[in-house]
Amino acid sequence: MRDFDLGKLCVVGGLLLLACSDNGSVGAVPDTGIGTNQPDATIEVDSAPEPSTPLAKVWGATALEDMNPDAKIVEVNLAAANYDWDFEGHTVKMFAYNGQLPGPLLQANVGDKIIVHFTNNLEEPTTIHWHGMRIDNEMDGNPRVQDPVQPGETFTYTFDAVEAGSFWYHPHVNSHEQVDRGLQGSIVIHESQPPAYDTERFLIFDDILIDPATGILPGFLKSHGEEMHGRFGNRLLSNGLSSDKLAATAQKGEVERWRIVNTANARTMTFKLDGATFRVIGSDGGLLPQPYTTNYLQVAIGQRYDIEVSYDKAGTVKLLNLIPTATNDGKVKLVEYSALKVEVADSTNEPREVQLPVVAELPAREIDQTVDVELSGQTDAQGHIAWTINGKVNAEEFLFTFKKGSTIKMRLKNLAGPEHPFHLHGQFFTIVDQKTMETSQPGLKDTVLVPGMSTVEIIAFMDNPGRWMAHCHILEHAALGMMSELVVEE
Ligand code: C2O
Ligand code: CU
Repeated sequence: MRDFDLGKLCVVGGLLLLACSDNGSVGAVPDTGIGTNQPDATIEVDSAPEPSTPLAKVWGATALEDMNPDAKIVEVNLAAANYDWDFEGHTVKMFAYNGQLPGPLLQANVGDKIIVHFTNNLEEPTTIHWHGMRIDNEMDGNPRVQDPVQPGETFTYTFDAVEAGSFWYHPHVNSHEQVDRGLQGSIVIHESQPPAYDTERFLIFDDILIDPATGILPGFLKSHGEEMHGRFGNRLLSNGLSSDKLAATAQKGEVERWRIVNTANARTMTFKLDGATFRVIGSDGGLLPQPYTTNYLQVAIGQRYDIEVSYDKAGTVKLLNLIPTATNDGKVKLVEYSALKVEVADSTNEPREVQLPVVAELPAREIDQTVDVELSGQTDAQGHIAWTINGKVNAEEFLFTFKKGSTIKMRLKNLAGPEHPFHLHGQFFTIVDQKTMETSQPGLKDTVLVPGMSTVEIIAFMDNPGRWMAHCHILEHAALGMMSELVVEE
């Protein structure tokens, strides 16, 4: 049991969760208006399945229609466009994939080929990044590799589903606005022998900053607080609904798989489950060799978790999002917001044990090289913040060049107060466990949270050749310079 203490969280007011200190090279945050701020060489891969068992139905998202009769090829159409979103009695100007917010589910079996015919019906350029999938470099949506898709134009993304797991997709151009306005969708790559759960659910957790009187989203990157901490929402969203509206039903004795992703621009989320038991069975890189239990599940932006939920009694089960909130006496208390509610009907059944596929132990690889990645920031004379990686704002030159197959220890050093969810494209890594909520996260990862004024170490497996983005997934930080690329040479 991982037993964490949430005593140290802090806040700056309203529905907001912020890192504690603002020391370091960037100044303090003023309050700003509405909602404010605030095994040996390679990783083993699940082998390809026989053709073609129907894919498990995933609750919570509409699956894209596979137009290709070949059992090993998934071929879909996806279009991004402006979208009028009906929210709290307002028509909110958003963007959507295929008119759905969040976007539709892309699913395939591990080993399948995926073809996505993408059309950009937005009034601005965009790309799609398949977050967490280790695919070919040209298909990764990096706007420095792929010319962004211009308004009215199309692009065909073709890639292989190399690993089974839970992933997500989103744009990589003007991301802090495009993702915030709704361009985000779920990806499930099913195992060749998927465990037989009663129900599989995909849960996309987000937040949005909205003027409750008008339904207008405030201008992007217009406040110091947003530059400092990223854009914190004043409304929590679950699968595109106000989070307290997402509800489901089940029966006592059933066992489910929930796939969770945090797609917020800036908010780390911490969950607990009331009324049922759960354990963690998967992370960014798919199912874990050893499932584990934990009292709190911290999900940094971009990270995924697969949890197994067992209904051992009837009643209301709630997944609660714990939001640190300032009280009048200057203290911080955790306010619980429902992220998903399940009404569990009574039955005589007890939860059964669901057989999980055997997952290879994580690779124990010798470290070839250790590098430092310094996450910091600077403020100009007007008080605007630029965020840096190894001293560079939006570095043009490559951060590092590694050989394919090398194992790199990266010391991620956060030299300032705000936290940074660091994301590496195209590769997996493991986190060196320091017995903290941010680091006691087993399994293959592509995103790790580096708290303010601290160092987190990861062991990255540079197995996928190409030039890969390495950046902060607080999308405002990335927009303000915390963006770099590294190269993995053949
Ligand atoms: Cu999910 Cu480069 O991002
Ligand atoms: Cu950051």
